[in-house]
Amino acid sequence: MIFTFVTLFQNLIEGYFQDSILKRAIDRDLIRLSYLNPRDYSQNKHNKVDDTAVGGGAGMVMNPQPLYDVLDDLKKSDEKVHIVFLTPVAKPFKQNDAKRLAKKSHIAFVSGRYEGIDERVIENYADEVFSIGDYILTGGELASLVMCDAISRNINGVLGNSDSLSIESFETPLLEAPSFSKPKVYEEISVPSEYLKGNHSKIRSLKLALSECKTKFFRPDQLIKHKTQSH
Ligand code: ADE
Repeated sequence: MIFTFVTLFQNLIEGYFQDSILKRAIDRDLIRLSYLNPRDYSQNKHNKVDDTAVGGGAGMVMNPQPLYDVLDDLKKSDEKVHIVFLTPVAKPFKQNDAKRLAKKSHIAFVSGRYEGIDERVIENYADEVFSIGDYILTGGELASLVMCDAISRNINGVLGNSDSLSIESFETPLLEAPSFSKPKVYEEISVPSEYLKGNHSKIRSLKLALSECKTKFFRPDQLIKHKTQSH
């Protein structure tokens, strides 16, 4: 899988891939990264990429020209590239999207800064538009990293142990049961005694009960989904 980041701030993104699972995925050539900077495509003599909003409104909006040119180039280099825009004005990104997008060969994330991106760019080039949540970030870079991470985990071979995907929260409507590490007793608090006894069917049913409890408390909307799916 190739991930292309279309961003004015490559530095903000690079660090995330310098350690842990995604670094290993790059070392094994399971994922490849590339970067395109709209500023390099600006025809403005000062390489400007933004301007005040037509019709008024606060802040600067990214101009169409550099983005049209960078995205034309990208599409010419790979007609299969799937172009994703990050903005808070979009459908929410979910685990199902991560799974679906993991099957693409090339995804480009287009991050806006300032007050946003000229809408004509999104209209012309977006295969999909996502928000990662109901809050406003300084730009799309963090959102693109969130998506890239969640998608990468669903690419074959990226996680060492494929089991760790299937029981994760959001693979089913229930949130994952709590996990405990060693020691078994820490500061006088023990892990649940059932976890210690080694009866796997009992552990499974306790984990299901704990999952239901957590889901009811934190995500009652998900519990309703679980109940309708299991009946
Ligand atoms: N850019 C700014 N805020 C965002 C959000 N919540 N999701 C995606 N992109 C964004």
